[in-house]
Amino acid sequence: MHRNNRRRWTVKSSLSRLALLASGALTAFGAAAGLAPATATAAEVVVYCSVNEDWCREAVTSFERQTGIKTLMTRKSSGEVYAQLRAEKTNPKADVWFGGSGDPHLQAAEEGLTESYKSNKLDELYSWAAKQAENSQHRTVGIYMGALGFGYNRDLLAKRKLTPPACWSDLIGAGFRDEIQVADPNSSGTSYTMLATLVQLMGEDAAFDYMKKLHKNVNQYTKSGAAPAKSAAQGETMVGIAFQHDLLTEVLAGAPVSIVAPCEGTGYEIGSMSIIKGARNMETAKAFYEWALTPEAQALGAKVKNYQIPSNAGAPIPPEAPRIDKMKLISYDFARYGSTAERTRLLGKWDREIKSLSK
Ligand code: F6P
Repeated sequence: MHRNNRRRWTVKSSLSRLALLASGALTAFGAAAGLAPATATAAEVVVYCSVNEDWCREAVTSFERQTGIKTLMTRKSSGEVYAQLRAEKTNPKADVWFGGSGDPHLQAAEEGLTESYKSNKLDELYSWAAKQAENSQHRTVGIYMGALGFGYNRDLLAKRKLTPPACWSDLIGAGFRDEIQVADPNSSGTSYTMLATLVQLMGEDAAFDYMKKLHKNVNQYTKSGAAPAKSAAQGETMVGIAFQHDLLTEVLAGAPVSIVAPCEGTGYEIGSMSIIKGARNMETAKAFYEWALTPEAQALGAKVKNYQIPSNAGAPIPPEAPRIDKMKLISYDFARYGSTAERTRLLGKWDREIKSLSK
């Protein structure tokens, strides 16, 4: 299960980092990225990271190694980072928000919590990623994509002699009572993606009726979106609703889990990245941002077994990545479901009508 690491994690300085700084490597990287040179004293960047912890670590280690910029990182779920940016609005503590589903990034953009910055790498990105930037006046950008689904533990399913679920509608069956895990959409971008997906797929009234029924079958609303995938892998829950790439990580590690792209259709995320408004380390934030859009940086996710589709068309798509082209994907309305009005309204309604419901 994801441990929500609140501890600030500093990449260990190496002798070579000091040497790089001294030799002006940061200035060279900045020049290559079209940035003003940063001074050695400003050579630090603070990252809030909403991808899985192993990818967060790999990203900051590589960035620090390549640029000599000291990189501090905290991992939190997407909705949690959004809430933190709001709380820190007048005194921002971080410079870049790396990863996490796009809706809360769009909400942060609308609320002026993130900085407008137009990368010269936009042309290298798939249109879905560049569109995320256009939709937000360049206050956020797409860095990967991944589809929602669910996974079931075959051993537990066989023990209970249940038919394998293939559709959203199967998950509300009586056989799955207390057998399903999903995150809380307030903290988790994954779970908000599910909420918005169901509303778009079924219509709002039917989606809330569905979630009321689903609630009876939910054994836990976790904080992080990938936690239900890990719980299904470990046999702690029969079904975990999660992004399919997070389920795939467990499957490839040998878990007896089958991944389902729901038959009615499913939603997806445009994992995003934003520079935080009022960042204390604006130049190094831009250096990190430019670096994170390179094909080389985008290949790091798969290196640590995270199988999203990278946004830079020059980055290899992991061969293992769930085949988006074989799924029935909805035409997710990011502008609407990432807006403050809609996201706040739907989360409030979920709290009132679903979370508070007795079972
Ligand atoms: O890195 C795993 C991942 O599923 C990302 O694809 C996604 O953006 C993020 O986690 C969402 O995490 P959470 O649901 O905890 O906000």
